[in-house]
Amino acid sequence: MGFNIAIDGPAGAGKSTIAKKVAKRLGYIYVDTGAMYRAMALFLLKEGVDPKNSEAVNEKCKEADITIRYENGEQVVYLNGENVNAFLRTEQVGNMASVTSANPNVRKKLVELQQKLAADADVVMDGRDIGTCVLPDAEVKVYLTASSKVRAQRRYDELTAKGEKCDIDVIEKDIIERDYQDMTREISPLKQAEDAVLVDSSDMTIEEVAETIMKMTVTGGI
Ligand code: DC
Repeated sequence: MGFNIAIDGPAGAGKSTIAKKVAKRLGYIYVDTGAMYRAMALFLLKEGVDPKNSEAVNEKCKEADITIRYENGEQVVYLNGENVNAFLRTEQVGNMASVTSANPNVRKKLVELQQKLAADADVVMDGRDIGTCVLPDAEVKVYLTASSKVRAQRRYDELTAKGEKCDIDVIEKDIIERDYQDMTREISPLKQAEDAVLVDSSDMTIEEVAETIMKMTVTGGI
């Protein structure tokens, strides 16, 4: 078993930025579990599956072969043999993933893959249920959050920097809706593990958050 760091929290809290940074500093592997749920969502979208039809999702997801490789230090997601990294970070795929990730067969398949990755490597893994479900024995557990206003502002800045037109109120509404979906689903809802440390990044810089987590790895989470 490797040394495992679990980072959970709502969409836009900065999990992936922080997890990547901490992993790089420690020489650990960064495992982005959201990308796996997104790859599954991409598959279901391509197949024209209605996300509300849980029976269809439960059956169809069995046909998706999702594997992870590390190329030049980056996580690359393969969906039925094809590198799909470039297609995962859209609002459409994210919204689909939020719905289809509530499905038991989808979760079972991807949790197994995540546990396999963490079994024999030192990892920083981010997601929604890592501390509660995927890696209950992780040495360090962080619940990273920020207010919906701050998270919407970050997303807005990111999109406008890319030249995309967007409305901050719509983004915040989407974020609140996604939180609700992720926190109220029946299986593995997003919640803070009892032994996780709460970090609210609303008024913190990326560096401050990374430092906070680095300190926990030395003290074993306290
Ligand atoms: O972190 P993200 O936005 O890439 O995740 C996309 C969706 O996947 C998110 O709305 C919920 C789901 N997800 C999950 O259910 N469990 C995880 N461990 C990671 C993501």
